[in-house]
Amino acid sequence: MSDASGDRPVLVTGGASGIGAATCRLLATHGHPVVVADVHDGAGRAVAAEVNGLFVHLDVGDPEDWSTVLRVATDRFGRLYGLVSAAGVKSEYLIDSPEDEELFARTARVNQFGVLLGVQVVGQHLRAGGEGSIVNIASAAAMPPAQSPDLAYVSTKWGVRGISRTAAKALAPYGVRVNTVLPGLINTPMIAGVAAGDPERVAQISAAIPLGRVGEPDEVACAAYFFVSDQSSYATGAELVVDGGTLA
Ligand SMILES: NC(=O)c1ccc[n+]([C@@H]2O[C@H](COP(=O)([O-])OP(=O)(O)OC[C@H]3O[C@@H](n4cnc5c(N)ncnc54)[C@H](O)[C@@H]3O)[C@@H](O)[C@H]2O)c1
Repeated sequence: MSDASGDRPVLVTGGASGIGAATCRLLATHGHPVVVADVHDGAGRAVAAEVNGLFVHLDVGDPEDWSTVLRVATDRFGRLYGLVSAAGVKSEYLIDSPEDEELFARTARVNQFGVLLGVQVVGQHLRAGGEGSIVNIASAAAMPPAQSPDLAYVSTKWGVRGISRTAAKALAPYGVRVNTVLPGLINTPMIAGVAAGDPERVAQISAAIPLGRVGEPDEVACAAYFFVSDQSSYATGAELVVDGGTLA
């Protein structure tokens, strides 16, 4: 198989917004056919149109949706070469929140089970083709020391690190790499509530980041692209923190 980007279709979950959408755009710039997958159909279709790609509705927590997306993507492109799992939700499940099994389960279903299904379903497909690259987006909040108070979000993102490393070992013999990107605070709709309309709060947050600002989705997309590309051909089970120096 040729290593030209045009022969390497990549599926991006959470592709309708933020980091996922930026990753779709960057992959397309580099010539990759892109499958934009998301629960948010309108925004997903708009990104797919922009990158001349294919939109497929995908709820990452639904195994049947994964079978459909794989079938539709391979019908269109013949095969997949890569997966970037960027779909995610925050939960605001704090230590003194009411005990809420449903909120925890909902968070885990997207952030953790969704990533797990991706490495299983797409992993099996890539393994059969003898090459490929999977990139999971976790969070710098899943690195020590503890930073975020959101118990459900943080624990599911730690889970993503475990899934990536375990899958990396399982899939390495088949030429399939699995790596993880751990973003810090990034300017996407997910954090819109953090300091919306409050310049003082924005200044306070920025001052706590060594580079002095919140990151942009493109700056995380670059890290995801690095792991998709052959520039990272000897990296698997690796983790890249992109957080403006916060963990330094
Ligand atoms: N923004 C940050 O500061 C930040 C920091 C660290 C990690 N992250 C992680 O980066 C990833 C992307 O987040 P973002 O900031 O771009 O947020 P975002 O809200 O802009 O994008 C998340 C996307 O995931 C999609 N999604 C949600 N549930 C889904 C489901 N069940 N199936 C399919 N798609 C679903 C949403 O529709 C949305 O398009 C997430 O995994 C997030 O946890 C974000």
